[in-house]
Amino acid sequence: MIQSPRGADDILPPESARLRALEQRFIETASRFGYREIRTPIFEEAALFEKGTGETTDLVTKEMYVFSDRGGRTLALRPEGTPPIVRAAVQHHLLKQNPYLKASYAGPMFRYERPQRGRGRQFHQAGVEFIGVSDPLADAEVIHLLVSFLSECGVSDYRVLLNNLGCTGDRATYRAALTAFLIPHIQHLSRVDQERFSRNPFRVLDSKEPETQRFLAERTDLPCIADHLCASCREHNAGVLTALGSLCIPYEETPTLVRGLDYYERTVFEVVSSRLGAQDAIGGGGRYDHIFTSIGFKEDYPAVGFAIGLERLLLASVPAGSESGLHFLVIPIGESARGPAFRLVARLRQSLAVDLAWGISSLRAALRSADRQKTPFVGIIGDEELRENVLILRNMKTGEQMRLSLDDPASLSLLIQNELQKN
Ligand code: HAM
Repeated sequence: MIQSPRGADDILPPESARLRALEQRFIETASRFGYREIRTPIFEEAALFEKGTGETTDLVTKEMYVFSDRGGRTLALRPEGTPPIVRAAVQHHLLKQNPYLKASYAGPMFRYERPQRGRGRQFHQAGVEFIGVSDPLADAEVIHLLVSFLSECGVSDYRVLLNNLGCTGDRATYRAALTAFLIPHIQHLSRVDQERFSRNPFRVLDSKEPETQRFLAERTDLPCIADHLCASCREHNAGVLTALGSLCIPYEETPTLVRGLDYYERTVFEVVSSRLGAQDAIGGGGRYDHIFTSIGFKEDYPAVGFAIGLERLLLASVPAGSESGLHFLVIPIGESARGPAFRLVARLRQSLAVDLAWGISSLRAALRSADRQKTPFVGIIGDEELRENVLILRNMKTGEQMRLSLDDPASLSLLIQNELQKN
C-alpha cells in the first residue's frame, strides 16, 4: 500500500488546527515587532543554498532534496528560509526602498535527515530576518521576539543558549588554535566527528555524539572562542548581553554553541527545552553579515534572524493528547432532534468550535467519543428536551448537567466560554 514518504507525515486534526494557528499567531506577533510576511517558493535554485547555507554544512552535503526539472535546471526543496529571503530582498530591491527590511515567514522546509521524534524530512518553520542593521540591539530584539512568542504559546521551561563566533578574522585564529588542540586527540572523537572535523572543526564542539561529548567535557583546556575575539566583536557581544539584561531575558553563555550553518558570525543563539528529548532545540538563529556576497550579490548587508521548528514547539507547549479541536459536541437523539440540533450548531459556530455527533446513533457511543477526544462540553437533545425546548448541557470533566433554553444560543455560548476560561 502506498503511504506518505518516510519522515513526511500527514498532519491530522487536531494537530492541523494547532499548526495553522501557530503559523498565524507567529506572523501576528512578529508584526507587533515591525515584521511583514514574505512567502518564497518552496523550491529554489540549488546553488542558492550551496552558496548561502554553505558547502561544508551537513545540510547542503547530505540533507538537501535536489532534483532536475524538465528544463534541466538544478533545483532544491528549501531546507531553510534564510537564503530565500535574502534572494527575495535583492531581487525585489527591498533594501533600496528602505534602509532596512524586517521579514517574517512560515511554512514547510525539507531536509533528508534520519526521522525521529521532533525530526522530520518535511517539517515547518516560522522565522524572521532583520536585514540592514548591525546594532547589537537588533540581535537582542530578535531574541526578545523569540522568547515573547514562546511565552505566548505557553512554553516556559526553555533555556536561551548564547555564544559569539567573532568575525572572519577571529574565527581563523580560533580555528587554528582548535585544530592544533584536537589533532593529537582525534582518536577520542567519534567516527562521525573525525569526518566532521576535516570539513569544519567547529562542528565538533556542539556534537551530539556521546564519545565526543565525554571527551570535550573532560577537557578544561579546550580553546575558547571568547579568548579569540577582536575588540569590535567583544564590544558587540557586550552590547547584546546588556540589552538582554535590560529586557530581563535570562540567557546562558555557551562557548560550545557553534550552530550548523556556515553563514553565522558574531551572535548565535538557540532555545532548548528539556521536554523535547534528543532533538532539544525549539529554535535557533544568529547574525550573518556576509551572506549576500557569498551568494554572489554585489553588496553585503548586516543581518540577524532566527527560525522556530513548529512541530517541536507543539511538542514543548502542550502535553500530547490534551486537546480536542472542539469546544462543544451536540448530540441529537432520534430523528426529530436532528433539525433543531443542526440549526443550533450553525448558530454557535460564530463563537465556538462546535460539531454535531455525525453518524453516531446512541447516546452512550457519542459520550464515549467526546470523552476520548477530550471535548469539554456536550449538549444532548432528545424527545423530552424537544418538548420543553431545552438542551442538556454536560460538563464532561465534572459530569455536571444543566438544562438550558434552545432559543438562547447566545447565553449558552457565553456560559461555555466562561467555563472554558476557568480551565
Ligand atoms: P536551524 O537551527 O537549522 O536554523 O533550524 C531552526 C529550527 O528548525 C531548529 O531549532 C528546529 O526546531 C527546527 N528543525 C530543523 N530541522 C528540523 C527537522 N528535520 N525536523 C523538525 N524540525 C527541525 C535555520 O534554519 C536558520 N535558517 C535559522 C536562522 C534564521 N538563522 C538566521 N535566520
